[in-house]
Amino acid sequence: MAYLLGIDIGTSGTKALLIDSAGKVLARSTHEYPLSSPRPLWSEQDPSDWWKATCQAIRNVLYRSEIPASAISGVGLSGQMHGGVFLGPNDEVLRPAILWNDQRTQAQCDWIMETVGRDRVVSETLNPVLTGFTAGKIVWVRDNEPDVYARIRKVLLPKDYVRLMLTGEYATEVSDASGTSLFNVPKRRWSDVMLQGCGIPEAWMPEAYESPEVSGRITAEAASATGLAVGTPVVGGGGDQAAGAVGNGIVETGIVSSTVGTSGVVFAFADEPIMDPGLRLHTFCHAVPGKWHLMGVMLSAGGSLQWYRDTFCDAEKREAAQQGVDPYELMTAGAAEAPVGCEGLIFLPYLTGERTPYPDPHARGVFFGITRRCDKRHFTRAILEGVAFGLRDSFEIMQAMKLPIVQVRASGGGARSSLWRQIQTDVTGIPHVTINVDEGPALGVALLAGVGTGVYPSVADACKSVIRVEGRTDVCNVNRVAYDRFYAVYRQLYAQLREQFAEVGRLVA
Ligand code: XUL
Repeated sequence: MAYLLGIDIGTSGTKALLIDSAGKVLARSTHEYPLSSPRPLWSEQDPSDWWKATCQAIRNVLYRSEIPASAISGVGLSGQMHGGVFLGPNDEVLRPAILWNDQRTQAQCDWIMETVGRDRVVSETLNPVLTGFTAGKIVWVRDNEPDVYARIRKVLLPKDYVRLMLTGEYATEVSDASGTSLFNVPKRRWSDVMLQGCGIPEAWMPEAYESPEVSGRITAEAASATGLAVGTPVVGGGGDQAAGAVGNGIVETGIVSSTVGTSGVVFAFADEPIMDPGLRLHTFCHAVPGKWHLMGVMLSAGGSLQWYRDTFCDAEKREAAQQGVDPYELMTAGAAEAPVGCEGLIFLPYLTGERTPYPDPHARGVFFGITRRCDKRHFTRAILEGVAFGLRDSFEIMQAMKLPIVQVRASGGGARSSLWRQIQTDVTGIPHVTINVDEGPALGVALLAGVGTGVYPSVADACKSVIRVEGRTDVCNVNRVAYDRFYAVYRQLYAQLREQFAEVGRLVA
């Protein structure tokens, strides 16, 4: 029996997952770290926190599973995408990493689009340059922190910083590299056009592998920090969305996932590098060699409910602690008592700006239509519905592109609630299924590690060995019809408020 380790460097914490080749989970461990927002629109983390959490999480899974480190065939890395880690001549971290949900770089993104030219940007990267993506962050450092910029020798993505610590190699893989705006997505290699256009030396970029390829091996230093065995292979892995998609079995045409974590992502497999003509969906390389994927990304899906819990639901938290349940259970039980459409209370989930369908860093969260009849149950349900409306935006773009949608797999924290699953099903009008595993990107990269070390012949085979459909949520037609009407209002609200979002952004800048 082979053993595989997946590590996911998430936004709230790092998770290590140890499985056997049949997909049985032997141990998992998560270590959290803070996120700092020193100014409005900024979002940063300290890469050394990722490394400390990674060491601790690996040590825990080794201890809990009692599997000897030497029995682990391979390690896979996944992580929050797009973040910029800036390293100096001795691999020292020059400033806090600037993360995927940081929105400070609009001026730099506009500059890149103008300097390189929109058509060339799109034909090279298949996407517009967005504030979340990495290139704008590098140019922002050039414009605002020239002393830091002058010392940069390498720019790495979050999981690839951890890879450097584990293997001593500067490496990434195609799925995460796709989200930098510096990668030629159709050709699966760094883009000379984008690098030269942005004035960024290619030497700053790590080598880009296909996701299952071995990118390096555990060094003696990393072995003593983590407990892993020296020489254990580390494969490319994947950005958290591509890796999560492998962990959900999204490795063939027609199988789509809808994942509600902090972000909300609708993810579809693609044989070819096809694009949304409106550029609202991202087209990136998939973690399946030679394949691509399209995805719509909402920045605050589960993040909206988490914000609401932490800001307004202390009573539910206390009650939940007494009952030994999750506060979300009590919140969603309340939401179930509010009617479909919440009597006209509509939530726009743009708490940290938005990407799909509106790439707008200034968009803000809104509760629209409050009346005296609204209580907490309405507000909670309005969040569940508003997030589902946002997911529907991505489904509608995919349907307009005629992408086949044969099956939708609901995943992430948002799939655990049967109420939220039902709302997502009714709002989109598409049945959702659930699968037997719920380990997300860490499982995906553990499987990729198995492919790269010969445990499975291919990514599709790896998925077949461990992933099965288990549950199904069907559309309630009465609710679907009602939601169609509220969705129409939801769509109009952003259009009506776009200017005001921008104006408020200027007022508080
Ligand atoms: C994907 C994206 C997020 C982050 C954090 O484009 O920005 O999913 O990877 O999870």
